[in-house]
Amino acid sequence: MSRKAIIAGNWKMNNTIAETKALVNELIPLVKDAQCDVVICTPYTDLATAVELTKGTNIKVGAENVHWAEKGAFTGEISAKMLVELGVEYVIIGHSERRQYFGETDETVNARTKAALAAGLKPIVCVGETLEERESGKVEEVLVRQTKGAFAGIDKEELENIVIAYEPVWAIGTGKTATAEVANETIAIIRKTMAELYCPKCAENRVRIQYGGSMNPKNVKELMAMPEIDGGLIGGASLKAVDFSQVVNF
Ligand code: 13P
Repeated sequence: MSRKAIIAGNWKMNNTIAETKALVNELIPLVKDAQCDVVICTPYTDLATAVELTKGTNIKVGAENVHWAEKGAFTGEISAKMLVELGVEYVIIGHSERRQYFGETDETVNARTKAALAAGLKPIVCVGETLEERESGKVEEVLVRQTKGAFAGIDKEELENIVIAYEPVWAIGTGKTATAEVANETIAIIRKTMAELYCPKCAENRVRIQYGGSMNPKNVKELMAMPEIDGGLIGGASLKAVDFSQVVNF
């Protein structure tokens, strides 16, 4: 199996520039020997600082969203080209908070993913079911729809440049982690969907799928021991250097 683990922090709407400087400087020595890919995704206003401070280190920087158009009359939006020029490498797309509060749909997720890839960014595409969907037995239906929607029209050659994050909405910021078994079997559904969309070998060797939702230093080992789980997208625990480094150095 040739999938390298990838642990990414999603800072969400946290950290000013001054706070970014402090956190990144504390983090750099703590994660320098990490065996996995290490990414921090920050608010737009912190990106330039994060990129500057992490130059020459093993930490990559990502944004938390990107618009689908190249440029134009989209007040308040940021294009992929703008991120690339800043030195940003990754971008989170379709996080459940964006789906829930900002009207993100499978179509906009797909459009943003295509724009990010076209500009040379690596999308971290988020999928995941709500509690209601899980309790009514719709997990597979929801994940297949979200995965097919996100990847519509995306070429097989791009798979190495995309990461999928499976984030059950009920596990985000709640302290409730999916058990390692549930996370593993649900990610297997996503991988099966990718096998159908592309090919079994592509899904097995070239698609990295993270788990996200209350992942922390205490549960990281158990989650990362699961064969389907290739990494984590970390919210709360990514805001503390020691906690995040313990996740990264699982
Ligand atoms: P928490 O780790 O705070 O649950 O957040 C997960 C998440 O939404 C990462 O994108």
